[in-house]
Amino acid sequence: MTIAHLWWQKGIIYQIYPRSYQDSNGDGVGDLNGIRQRLDYIQSLNVDAVWLSPIYPSPMHDFGYDVADYIGVHQLFGSMDDFDALLEEVHARGMKLILDLVPNHTSDEHSWFLESRSSRDNPKRDWYIWRDPAPDGGPPNNWLSFFGGPAWTFDEHTGQYYLHQFVTQQPELNYRHPEVLPAMLDVMRFWLDKGVDGFRLDVIWMLLKDENFYDEPANPEWDGTDPKNSLIPIYTQNVDGVHDLIKEMRKVLDEYDERMMVGEIYLANADLMTYYGSLRPDGTYDECHLPFNFQLINMPWEAPVVRKAVDQYEADLPPGAWPNWVLGNHDRPRVATRVGQEQARVANMMLMTLRGTPTTYYGEEIGMENGRIPPEFIQDPPAVNQPEIAHLIGRDPVRTPMQWDSSPHAGFTGEEITPWLPAAENYQSLNVAAQEDDPTSMLSLYRRLTDLRRQEPALNAGAYERIDVGENEIFAYRRFGLGSDDFLIVLNFGEGTYILDLSSQAKTASIEASTSMSSAGQLNLRVLIVAANEGLVLRLNPDQ
Ligand code: GLC
Repeated sequence: MTIAHLWWQKGIIYQIYPRSYQDSNGDGVGDLNGIRQRLDYIQSLNVDAVWLSPIYPSPMHDFGYDVADYIGVHQLFGSMDDFDALLEEVHARGMKLILDLVPNHTSDEHSWFLESRSSRDNPKRDWYIWRDPAPDGGPPNNWLSFFGGPAWTFDEHTGQYYLHQFVTQQPELNYRHPEVLPAMLDVMRFWLDKGVDGFRLDVIWMLLKDENFYDEPANPEWDGTDPKNSLIPIYTQNVDGVHDLIKEMRKVLDEYDERMMVGEIYLANADLMTYYGSLRPDGTYDECHLPFNFQLINMPWEAPVVRKAVDQYEADLPPGAWPNWVLGNHDRPRVATRVGQEQARVANMMLMTLRGTPTTYYGEEIGMENGRIPPEFIQDPPAVNQPEIAHLIGRDPVRTPMQWDSSPHAGFTGEEITPWLPAAENYQSLNVAAQEDDPTSMLSLYRRLTDLRRQEPALNAGAYERIDVGENEIFAYRRFGLGSDDFLIVLNFGEGTYILDLSSQAKTASIEASTSMSSAGQLNLRVLIVAANEGLVLRLNPDQ
């Protein structure tokens, strides 16, 4: 059966970290009206959906991922009216808006937790995960927090420990209590009724914990750096039963038209694929529309590794399940820092031409790099709590202000204002304004690629087939089908120049995009010259 491709399949998702995009009211923190002011720019990127990291009321211990009220807007970001105005304008421009839903934990200031911790017999007591101390008075088991120390904090008032795998102020909800999931489904309905187009679901594979609370086993492969990795998380991640919860969430989305959810899941393919859920008679699956595929974020940037991973992912996808690709997010080092500016162009070309939904993290379109955060500015809890490994795990460097222009603070906030994080040092040369009119800039390349992707069915929804060109540093593939022209993508991950014979694909082709933004015209595919760090998107001319 042919299923028409939907916006979340053909389209591009653009992630905004609202604190860092645009400050409109001079408090040094980005906000909803700031985003609204930048919609012309966002639209000019040819992206289809904007995903906002959390905007809800929060004491900001984890910068909004500690939610104190799921159905409100933090005053730092604006008001509900500001949100409604943003949603309306995003829609008026033909784009979609995706919110970040954080169902695994709340803030310790959420009214549910205030009730839960008030007494052992409060009706909401078991909405959270409370356990008695171990016989020695210590934590109930050895589970660890991602942000340093045990995953348990003792509550003096009621004499029990509560579970939190992130900051102490992020108590985890107990999805074994029958009232918790319905409460979260109501949250979803609240936003869906407003017209929100979907959710990015935070740490969705951790929603359920094993009910025996056994110690987790030691990880023999631990490299000795991040303590959280010293245990194998068999009782806290990907626990049996988690899929039932996600299926219920999906049912809520299915009550509406064309809404979607994309799940944050860091798992290897075999487990990751289970988060699509089960195949239904209409050809769709019953869990996440898109379980985030984070492979490109973690793997070494080497052509043989990347090619193999792309092929493997394609092979592992359940029949008809829709793929997706990501280069970075608010938790991981920026792609331009990991692979360098030249390869970041290749990476963007690959992201926009692989089969599946691309997600761009704000700033990737101009090649933003990790900022250098002076010690007195470090704010991210894992870095603050574990200074010895702050340089490895701190996320402040990837959350620096969007680099709009060369004015103080990169145009993110007023000159006299101190932004919540300093702009990256290179903002005077690397910014939107500088790239806007430069036909060879990363921004121009990004727009060319996204425009092409939008125009060409073969690129946004066609089939993928890898082409073996016999060169280690080259990754080449063909995109085709859906009645449009066929495309050949040739990516050089290395420093060498290659002369390839691709005449098996077609005799001639035209260059539709090149990472240098300076090549154009017709080519003879018998002698295709690919320069160092060059990527090419070629439209194949049908052979006469
Ligand atoms: C997710 C978010 C991260 C946050 C954590 C706890 O991994 O992406 O930013 O700190 O969940 O909510």
